[in-house]
This record gives sequence, structure tokens and C-alpha cells, in this order.
Amino acid sequence: MTINFDELIDRRNTRSYKWDQSEKLFGSADILPLWVADMDFPSPSAVQEVLKKRADISAYGYAVRGDSYFESIVNWYSRRHNWKIEQHWITDSPSVVTSLSLAVELFTEPGGQVVLQSPVYYPFYDVIESNDRVLAKNPLVIRNGRYEMDLDHLESLFKDGAKLLLLCSPHNPGGRVWDREELLQLGELCLRYGVIVVSDEIHCDLVFPGHVHTPFATLSPEIADITITTLAATKTFNLPGLQTSFMITSNNKMRAKLEKRLRTLSIHMAHHFAQDAVEAAFNEGEQWLEELLTYVHGNLTYTLDFFQEHLPQIEPLKPDGTYLLWFDCRALGLDKRGLQELMFKKAKVAFSEGSVFGSEGEGWLRINLACPRFILEKALTQFADAVKRR
Ligand SMILES: Cc1ncc(COP(=O)(O)O)c(C=O)c1O
Repeated sequence: MTINFDELIDRRNTRSYKWDQSEKLFGSADILPLWVADMDFPSPSAVQEVLKKRADISAYGYAVRGDSYFESIVNWYSRRHNWKIEQHWITDSPSVVTSLSLAVELFTEPGGQVVLQSPVYYPFYDVIESNDRVLAKNPLVIRNGRYEMDLDHLESLFKDGAKLLLLCSPHNPGGRVWDREELLQLGELCLRYGVIVVSDEIHCDLVFPGHVHTPFATLSPEIADITITTLAATKTFNLPGLQTSFMITSNNKMRAKLEKRLRTLSIHMAHHFAQDAVEAAFNEGEQWLEELLTYVHGNLTYTLDFFQEHLPQIEPLKPDGTYLLWFDCRALGLDKRGLQELMFKKAKVAFSEGSVFGSEGEGWLRINLACPRFILEKALTQFADAVKRR
């Protein structure tokens, strides 16, 4: 290891969404935050350096995107995911959630049904509901200790008229890296019913050994033609505060609509800092990512062992990827308020509450494992002690 992931960056009093909101959100400033999905690790040094250089320019005027930025994206997905992206398929967007919302707005009608597979990252619900569309839920099923898609139920939603699916791949919060075969079955079903797929692949680089992420759009040219893939370097390299992402859309008509809407809302301009950070991360961050994955996997193993030894009643779903661990606390017999009290008042930790990912998540919690091991140990110990003291 050349990077010291054991060291904690003091993020308190930095306007951190994660570290500076404990009092406001959970009732006490001393609550350890292991919830929202950013990392307590420094971004790759190449990113830090390029950002300092941009800061040194001292005039922060309007910026453009250079060819080298787009090339860094094309090269990354070719190298890491064997995906041959053409530069003109790439459309920048301020955030992945912006892209999801635009796709719902542009490719469905008000009152139309949009499918998500629950439990899932909570903004998936927001982009459907705030656009006045109707939520069509296809709950995931747990088989052999992992989530699987219920394709029969999904087909019934398509028969009922749903024309757009929000896919989370890899899956947050369940940590599934979907197999090629199951994605292919999904793709064939979508083709049969004329359903557009918005495939959120923001976690695609965070995959553990033994698993391979398959970009949905690589399954076939026909499937690519119905797919908008939403991506970012922000999750992989800890840059989410830079607010930058992109979509890959090989279908010219769909891409033109997305680009027109981005211009209409005037959210298409480049950012003074973001594109350089992304380019540096993709071009020079690979070694950092490999070390990060090793460290996070170590945190995962530590946590699974900890649960087995100290909290055997809790059932984690072992993730194939992401830095998130989703675990079933229903055996504790606590309702939503009981779990909140256990975490925030007794254990002084904040994991994500499962219920925000949909009703299927009630009684579950999600830990963010992207923190130094000693923070994780402290949070787990405080949580286990609180469970035992009940
Ligand atoms: C599945 C998924 N999509 C999107 C995002 C957020 O992306 P952005 O900040 O670009 O909207 C997250 C962050 O946790 C996520 O887990």
C-alpha cells in the first residue's frame, strides 16, 4: 500500500454534508457519521495537484471542456470495462440524479409509470414522484443471500404500460454486481416491451475480486439503442462535492433531446475545477483505486467477522461491490423509531436508515465502509454495546 487509508481527514467544520450535520439531523454533534455515500479518504494525489493548479489561476472565469477530458473518459471505460464509447455519445450533466430526472421528464408522460427495483437509492423515488410520474415497483427478492430481479413481476408492469426503467447497476444498497446473464434477460424483456432503460452505473468501478461489472449498453447494439447510462468519476474517486457527471447515449435522438433540455435549463456549461479533476482521476488514479478496493474489502471482511462474533442475530447481505453494506436488523424487533433511538441516542452512530430506500428496507440499515478502520471499529463497537445494553 502506498496510500495511508488509516489516517482520518478531519472534515468537521468544512461544510461537510456528512460530518457537519450530526446535530441537525440526528440530535447530537458527537454522532459518528457512516451514512451518506462519500469517503473519508483523500482523493488521488494527481487530483489534488490539478485542483491546486486550477486554484492558482486566481481568475475563475467560464470554462470549456477540452478533448483530453473526453479522451480520459473513453480510455477509462475501454481499459476498465472493455466498453468502446464514441466521444460524441458523452453528455456532461451536473449530477447523476439530474440525469435520472431529465430522462424521466423527457421519455415518459405526466402520469406515466416508471419502474424501479426496490429497495433502492432514495432519489430514484424522488425523480419519479417530483416529475408527477407514477411509481411502478418491482421489489427485488432475496435468494441465496443476495438480491435477484423478479422478471415475471417486471413483465407484468411492462404489460401494464410502464415504458421506462431506472436500473441501479451495481445496486445500492444491496451491493449486487448483476451478472451478464441476468442483465441480458432484463434487456430482452425491455426490448420486447419497448421500454427505455436508464442504467445508473455510478458504482461500476467499485467491484470486488471475483465479480465483473457489465455495462448494460454493451449487451447488444439493440440494447444500447434503448439505454441511457448515467456515470461519474465522483463515487469512484471521492469527488461528489465537485458536482459533475456524464451520460453515455448512443441513440442520437435520445441524446439530442437530453442535450437540448440541458441547454434549456442552462446547466450545460463546464466547471472551473471539475473536468480537470475527472481527467486526472481517470488518467492517473488507477493505482489509487486498486489500493482503495483492497482497503474497503478489508473493512468489509472486518465488519462481517464483527457481526458474526458480536451480533450474530444481524444478517448482512455480502456485497459483490460498492463500499456499502446492507444488513438486516429485523431480529432486534425494533420499529423505525426504535432503530433511530438505538443508533443516534444509545450508540451515537449514524448508519443509513433502511426505510428511506423503500418499504422493503424497513428494519434494515446500511453502513458506509469507506472510512479508516479505526472509525469503523469504534462505530461497530458502540453499536454492538448499545444492542447489548438494551
Ligand atoms: C446509485 C447512485 N446514483 C447516484 C448517486 C449520486 O450521484 P450524483 O451525486 O452525481 O447525483 C449515488 C450516490 O450515492 C448513488 O448511490
